[in-house]
Amino acid sequence: MTSFRRALVLGGHGGLLGQALMDVLRASGWEAEGTGRSSIDYAAPDAGACLEALVEKLEPDCIFNAVGYTRVDDAEEHPAEADLLNRALPSMVGRVAKNFHCRLVHYSTDFVFSGKKGTPYTVEDTPDPVSVYGKTKLAGEEALLALGLEQCLIIRTAWLFGPGKKNFVQTILDRCWISQVIGVVHDQVGSPTYTPDLACYSLKLVEAEGRGIYHVVNAGEASWCELASEAARLAQKECSINAIPSAGYPQKAIRPAYSVLDTTKFEQATGVTPRPWLQALQEYVFRAYPAEGT
Ligand SMILES: NC(=O)c1ccc[n+]([C@@H]2O[C@H](COP(=O)([O-])OP(=O)(O)OC[C@H]3O[C@@H](n4cnc5c(N)ncnc54)[C@H](OP(=O)(O)O)[C@@H]3O)[C@@H](O)[C@H]2O)c1
Repeated sequence: MTSFRRALVLGGHGGLLGQALMDVLRASGWEAEGTGRSSIDYAAPDAGACLEALVEKLEPDCIFNAVGYTRVDDAEEHPAEADLLNRALPSMVGRVAKNFHCRLVHYSTDFVFSGKKGTPYTVEDTPDPVSVYGKTKLAGEEALLALGLEQCLIIRTAWLFGPGKKNFVQTILDRCWISQVIGVVHDQVGSPTYTPDLACYSLKLVEAEGRGIYHVVNAGEASWCELASEAARLAQKECSINAIPSAGYPQKAIRPAYSVLDTTKFEQATGVTPRPWLQALQEYVFRAYPAEGT
């Protein structure tokens, strides 16, 4: 087993996943430094030079890139900004990682798939994104793969929830305070994933010297409505969650109807079976909302 000990986490200061990575890395004995928008603005022209200077100073064994343009609907109207963070940035980070001989872990998304397949997507399935967000994330994967980095991991994940930043579960539980009835979409099904679990599984893949594309999510599948209902139940909220069709909740970007990810390749590489999303959700709700959940 390889021992990597110093990490640089892009997005480690304020990102939903970045913060979980920082916590899990440090708890696992790594030295971890993070960047936030105030340390490096990745949309600025000097971002590459700033990152190089930081990598030269810190000499990380591994860079985790958890920065992205993640506002799926806004991306439809701001494709250039989405392209900059989701395609050009990973390409730039990949070049820096190559120059400084460090491992790179980059995060991508289930939204590289259209959702028309109807069974869990494997890493062998051909991506066919239907949104600007999905297209730019796929372009980021392709740009990284084109660099031919020896030590590059691309982790596709999905439907993140966890501590440290507003996320779907928190939004639902907050709305339960002010509404008796909430309508939530039932005809989009995916793989809810707990950021601390994803961070742990990412480390397992690094330790296993994984290379190329992996799907890493919690086990099982759910619709947004099922995820919301379980969160409200665990937090003991007196709120009815009603199933509504996507047509009843129009959004600018098209979402895949079924984007569950198959984790077989991850399990074979690490020997780890991801735990069910419901178990992870219970841990999150009980920790984040102790008075309500216990
Ligand atoms: N969230 C999901 O459900 C989901 C699903 C599948 C895949 N992913 C992928 O997982 C990765 C992490 O997602 P996430 O949900 O943790 O994202 P997030 O919470 O939106 O965090 C993104 C990070 O990028 C930073 N950032 C954005 N623009 C920046 C800029 N111009 N300069 C510097 N930093 C900038 C943000 O900084 P600020 O905090 O200052 O804004 C934040 O730290 C992304 O690659 C995403 O595509 C996420």
